[in-house]
Amino acid sequence: MVNAAETNLSPRASVLFVCLGNICRSPMAEGALRDAAAKAGLDIAVDSVGTAAYHVGEPPDPRAVATAARHGVDISGLRGRQLSAADFDRFTHIFAMDAANMAGIKARAPKHAPAKIAMLLDVLPGFVGESVADPYYGDDGGFEVCWREVSTAADAIVARLQKEGAGAEF
Ligand code: 4NP
Repeated sequence: MVNAAETNLSPRASVLFVCLGNICRSPMAEGALRDAAAKAGLDIAVDSVGTAAYHVGEPPDPRAVATAARHGVDISGLRGRQLSAADFDRFTHIFAMDAANMAGIKARAPKHAPAKIAMLLDVLPGFVGESVADPYYGDDGGFEVCWREVSTAADAIVARLQKEGAGAEF
């Protein structure tokens, strides 16, 4: 058995993105972070879920798939999953896309859950507390805005995890 503290191995960060349906914002954030981490050579686990069960087992919205593809990222293989109590033990960091998602996360969080929970845009100076707008009911332009936000945030997460490791606080 290896003790990370004694051997100076840093534990691997694991990041979970949470939106409402897990077909628009959080799968785009998952794709953006997977891509940014791979490009940076950073070994992390990444997943996404919804607070609601509407789209469990479904692929991302076709507009989200097309938007990610325009930026060179394939998210077509992802499938919807709902947030579970086990996620609070499995992930080091949980990021909510908006304030309603944050309330849903906190309502489900077991007491003393080890995961650090924050709003995604808290990782960007000047955007603390702000929400990633839900593009689901809008046009394609909203998906492009969403991609810009989640990919900028993903780059910031990679930079902080590279510098501070899995214990980084956002
Ligand atoms: P998301 O967007 O939370 O970014 O995946 C939505 C997807 C589906 C629904 C709402 C928001 N819906 O009501 O089905």
